[in-house]
Amino acid sequence: MENREVCHCMGVSYSDIYNAVNNLSRLEDVLDTFKQIQEATSCSTGCGGCYNEVVGLISDIINGYADPPHHHHHD
Ligand code: FES
Repeated sequence: MENREVCHCMGVSYSDIYNAVNNLSRLEDVLDTFKQIQEATSCSTGCGGCYNEVVGLISDIINGYADPPHHHHHD
């Protein structure tokens, strides 16, 4: 998945979330993980508009459905 900014209020990108999830020593359920990622990255602490997307991404990452982020290269 191409890296992109997921939380615009806090400037948190997909790779920030992906890496933060993978840095956790144990994965709880999605909402517990969300709280840990929120603390680690500050994502979804502003307007809350990204909440559903962040939770969805965390769910995908935990379940192994999410591709590692990569940066777009301009050739
Ligand atoms: S876009 Fe993430 S808190 Fe506003």
